Amino acid sequence: MPKVKGKSKTTRLLARFSTIAGELGYPDTVRDAKGAAFKFYTEEGNLDWVFLNPEVFNLRDPAKFASLVHAKKRDPATNLLDANMLWDFLSSHPETFNALMRNYTDEGTPKSYSRLVISSVNTYTFTKRKSPTEWDHHLVRIKLVPATPIDPDKDWFTYDEATTMAGKDPDYLTRRLYDEIQRGQFPTWKVSAQILDPAKTSVDVLDATKVVPASDCPWIEFGQLKLNELPQNYFTQVEQAAFTPANIVPGWDISPDPILQIRLLSYGDSQRYRLGANHDQLPPNRACSYVYDPTRRNGAHSLTNYANAPNYIGSSGRDLKKPDHYNISFLKWQGNISRYLSKVEDVDYKQCREHWDTLSGPQQSRFISNVASSVAPASLPVRIATIAVFTKIWQAKGHETPPGPSPEKLTEDLKDRINERLENNKSKGSRLGIVPGGEGSDDLSYIPPTFPDPSTRPVPDIYERV
Ligand code: HEM
Repeated sequence: MPKVKGKSKTTRLLARFSTIAGELGYPDTVRDAKGAAFKFYTEEGNLDWVFLNPEVFNLRDPAKFASLVHAKKRDPATNLLDANMLWDFLSSHPETFNALMRNYTDEGTPKSYSRLVISSVNTYTFTKRKSPTEWDHHLVRIKLVPATPIDPDKDWFTYDEATTMAGKDPDYLTRRLYDEIQRGQFPTWKVSAQILDPAKTSVDVLDATKVVPASDCPWIEFGQLKLNELPQNYFTQVEQAAFTPANIVPGWDISPDPILQIRLLSYGDSQRYRLGANHDQLPPNRACSYVYDPTRRNGAHSLTNYANAPNYIGSSGRDLKKPDHYNISFLKWQGNISRYLSKVEDVDYKQCREHWDTLSGPQQSRFISNVASSVAPASLPVRIATIAVFTKIWQAKGHETPPGPSPEKLTEDLKDRINERLENNKSKGSRLGIVPGGEGSDDLSYIPPTFPDPSTRPVPDIYERV
């Protein structure tokens, strides 16, 4: 089994794709960020890449994570997904909008997991020995780009297509990934690294809500990732898999990125609950290399218990070589340690605006429709707060803002489309026997999350549009 790093090396890996808000069995074409987790079985242990599409995360303050997840999940009273909860949280935390700017384009409804740009989002560290006593360290982000370039018109569903597909085949993305591999159309990505030099960019390289522009720190391609094998038993090989950013190997290290720091603890915590104390000994999780960690033993279903070895590391008489990267400190800090990472500043809106400027006219129009459909069922104050964040984004100055509709015009457009949906849902709601929450349009309490966009019609034969 070769090391993961080095020229012309091939390393076997396990991949798992996921949606975030919906439970198992929930339609996978409903708009959502997508998770992509990879476990590389290297000769130095397992390296996990637990990555995401889009390329930025919603938060930089990990303390908010539980609330973000809960706002996306079901309402505790109704057990329904709830636009009010979602947009209440999002609009009161505008740092979430840079991710949202991507997720509410058609990028949020891809036609295949194989057509995703997948990013590390968090910042990690490349380490390499320079001399017996010196090391090179580089802060780094990773990106996987499909080997065949993405064509948004072919590779992304529109909202109505995704909605129709959600009913026709709730497992569409999973089925398609399986089919592609079975037919030998192996999903393949080019893997690139962005070496982050804080001196070369004004963006905080440890802020997961921000893109570091390629013009500041270019991307360097260094490998390829291909999925060419299917599991034989879903439960054993996929369901029981446990990925965590804490699984690292020499050459790859963590960084002080606050979101990453919390992730180092929370995945293992969840997995000890989900799979049990010794989940790292299950077939998909155990390393193919020799592992010696006698501090971790006993507990339910322990299969490898180190016989009579002492239960600590560093016992006399055992010539254990310390790993090369042991205890090397490389970051020099200057500045303050701060408690609150939540303050939203102009730069938060600026990156949103910059992304908006990269969208074509039709993509911008569909973005506004997608947001309107999602936010329409929320209460009036939440709708007002959401519109206000978008106005700030449209008012922000990007790099080179191209000519286009004014912020006022865009804001009016969003308001109009929200109102259009409210009217539509009011009439459809009574026809479907759905009980509105009150008399006024502002009080409508429920619109199915996959309700077709009123400005379009469901696609008659969705498979022809795929
Ligand atoms: C404060 C921030 C975050 C926390 C606390 C957190 C926590 C978790 C937890 C507990 C799980 C379930 C693990 C399991 O049961 O196996 C999970 C799954 C996942 N997370 Fe996060 N997460 C955070 C941010 C992120 C970010 C920034 C990314 C990507 C860059 C990410 C990618 C994923 C993926 C891909 C999965 C599914 C992995 C799989 O297939 O097992 N998460 N997360």
